[in-house]
Amino acid sequence: MSSALPRAGAPGQPTLPPCTHQPQHYAGPDYPEVLELRRQYVAPFVFTYYQQPLLIVEGYLQYLWDHTGKRYLDAAAGIATISVGHCHPRVVEAARQQVGTLAHTTTIYLHPNIARYAAALAQHFPQESKLGSLYFTNSGSEANEVATMLARLHTGSFDVIALRNGYHGGSAATMGLTAMSNWKYPLPHALGVHYACPGYCYRCPAGLEYPACGLRCAHDIEPLVAYETCGKVAAFIAEAIQGVGGVIEPPPGYFRTVYEIVRAHGGLCIADEVQSGFARTGETFWAFEHHGVTPDVVTLAKGIANGAPLGAVVTRPDVAQAMMQRLHFNTFGGNPVSAIQGLTTLQVIDEEQLQRNAREVGGYLRERLLDLQRRHPLIGDVRGRGLLQAIELVRDRSTKEPARVETARIHETIKDRGLLCGKAGVYGNVLRFTPPLCITKPDIDFLAQTLDEALGMAKGESRVTSECRRQNSERDTHR
Ligand SMILES: Cc1ncc(COP(=O)(O)O)c(C=O)c1O
Repeated sequence: MSSALPRAGAPGQPTLPPCTHQPQHYAGPDYPEVLELRRQYVAPFVFTYYQQPLLIVEGYLQYLWDHTGKRYLDAAAGIATISVGHCHPRVVEAARQQVGTLAHTTTIYLHPNIARYAAALAQHFPQESKLGSLYFTNSGSEANEVATMLARLHTGSFDVIALRNGYHGGSAATMGLTAMSNWKYPLPHALGVHYACPGYCYRCPAGLEYPACGLRCAHDIEPLVAYETCGKVAAFIAEAIQGVGGVIEPPPGYFRTVYEIVRAHGGLCIADEVQSGFARTGETFWAFEHHGVTPDVVTLAKGIANGAPLGAVVTRPDVAQAMMQRLHFNTFGGNPVSAIQGLTTLQVIDEEQLQRNAREVGGYLRERLLDLQRRHPLIGDVRGRGLLQAIELVRDRSTKEPARVETARIHETIKDRGLLCGKAGVYGNVLRFTPPLCITKPDIDFLAQTLDEALGMAKGESRVTSECRRQNSERDTHR
């Protein structure tokens, strides 16, 4: 198979496929001024990628342009947020018309956009799931907060089980649900949250292999429930594919087993589809569907409205009923502008057959990454589905020592050559590819060729690094 694939190695560097969009001449404040304003006035903990952060000023479909007019292939898409492509003309036009007609009312009045949108979104869930009652929020964090509260109200229990390596948001309570130890989270609101094993087969903590493992990781939830929650669970929350955690998908049967255990103890099962939803994984519209389970609550955001700040909690009417015990109000949730952007995004996904594109072009991306793995020992693992894929880089395939420095270097090198992607994983050694769903096969060729060159360069540098480490350790021994 690999011999049929286009390879790098032609004279010169790989070039991006042609693009008809002409970016405007950027006439805003120059790079040093933006950098200085940002340093002086934006809080220092708002981090940026790259040693010299990029100043991105325009986007069109799968491409971005910086202030100099240089074009990039956006294989990060604002971390899976741009679903149908930057500034997709239909989404832009729908938003423009709505802003010029009525930008805001709260949900205390009726408006057709929220009603039509809720109906259209509900129709994208399996009919038998009864997931047809929607509540709109401004973000994924807020959606997960509401989902957790809903589960506590519905069940009368308090304890929540989340997964290690998971990411559920940056608000106080969702930071508590997020067990990413290297994020230095103080876990201030983790009261009643218990962390279970995520089914990270490449680094199985028990050193077992699927399927001989008998799904030990999933069955480990049973003692956790018995000893840590006194047998009463409000909810289990998980991403079907952990995005920030490094594109980790538990093995087949994991979710079915866990859902059974949680439900036997009265808990609801929450699927966080913030990153993996909206056709990104190709074969199905939602990532949980790959596992043959039906959640009680699903949370959405990011790709939902192609860049507009919108989130949603989707549940069954009987579960939603529990919120009648509380007054919950949200100023911007489901406002007419976000709702029309959400509705139009959904229509574009369907009409432009972007789920099929995610499956086909995502499959091609997978092939190209596997081909790179065969030729570059630095790639320890290739994983993901559709257009949510990743490579985990290791210094040694047998020890799986994370190649953190090499990952950072490759990330920089490919940026210089016009390719943007995300970094992820608890060890910071995963490159994550979550492009807009309209990406094409020629774009993937560019991505693979650019990575190929950067991996080749990193191999040489990695040898130098190992030699330095050896010399340093000899020096230490002689001290
Ligand atoms: C899986 C998942 N859940 C929740 C969130 C939080 O969403 P937001 O940043 O919109 O609050 C994120 C953000 O990266 C995410 O990846």
